[in-house]
Amino acid sequence: MMKSSIGNLKSSIDNVPEHVAIIMDGNGRWAKQHGLPRLKGHEEGTQSVRAVLRAARQAGVKYLTIYAFSTENWIRPKDEVEGLMKLLARFADRYGDELLENKVRLLVMGQFERLPSSVQKKLSKLMEKSAKDYEYTLIVALSYGSRTEIADAAKAIAREAAAGELDPESVDEETIAKHLYLPDVPDPDLMIRTSGELRLSNFLLWQLSYAELYVTDTFWPDFREKEFFQALDAFDQRGRRYGGIVTQKGR
Ligand code: FPP
Repeated sequence: MMKSSIGNLKSSIDNVPEHVAIIMDGNGRWAKQHGLPRLKGHEEGTQSVRAVLRAARQAGVKYLTIYAFSTENWIRPKDEVEGLMKLLARFADRYGDELLENKVRLLVMGQFERLPSSVQKKLSKLMEKSAKDYEYTLIVALSYGSRTEIADAAKAIAREAAAGELDPESVDEETIAKHLYLPDVPDPDLMIRTSGELRLSNFLLWQLSYAELYVTDTFWPDFREKEFFQALDAFDQRGRRYGGIVTQKGR
C-alpha cells in the first residue's frame, strides 16, 4: 500500500530538480518526543540520510547537499559534538561501500581542517575512492557557514587582485561563484528544511538565490522516502503553475 503510493508519487513527477539541498533539523526534538538522549536523534537521522539518498537516486536527483554541522554547532555541549563526529566516522565506515556500489560521489564543503583528524582521514579516503566512477553526488556540509564561505571567496579574489592576476573592475557574479567552495556544482533548485523553522540559518546564501523553498513540520528522523517524494511533488506543482510562461528558472 505504502509502496504503491510512493510509486505513484514518483511516476507523476515530471520536473525533477537536479540539485536538492536539505537543512536536516529536529533530531533533538525527535529524541525528546521519544524520551531518548539527543544523540539517538542524530543516529536515527543518519538512517534518514540513507533513505533520502536512495529516494533521490531513484528520482534522478543528481546532487544532494545536506547540512550536517554548521560553524555555529561547535558551541554545542562537548559530548554532543564528539558524538556527532563519531557518527560521521561511523557513517563512512558502515555505509562507505553502499555509496560506492550506488555510484555516489562524496564531497565535503566547509572548514574541513577543523574536523578531528580521524574523521578527516575517513572522509578523505571515501572522497578519493568515490571520485573515480560516479553518477550522483552527495555533498555533506560540515563546519559550514555561508557567510564564511563568501568571506573566503572575497579574500581569494582580493589576493588575486593584489597579485595583479585579476582586474578589480572585472569582478562580477561569476567571479564570486567561481571562488566558492564547490564552483563546479550547480546551484540547488530546491531547498528542504525539516521541523518547521522558517530560516536559512547561514546555509548556501549565495547558491539558494533562485531555489524553491519547501518547509515541513516533520522532524528529520521521520523524513524518509515518502516525505522526500512529497517534497519533489510540491516542487513539480510549483513549476506547473507557471507552465509555459517561466522558461528560465526563478528569474
Ligand atoms: C539538527 O537537529 C541536526 C544536526 C545539527 C545534525 C545533523 C546530523 C545528522 C543527521 C547525522 C550525521 C550526518 C551524516 C551525514 C551521517 P538539532 O539537533 O538542531 O535538532 P533540534 O533543533 O530539534 O534540537
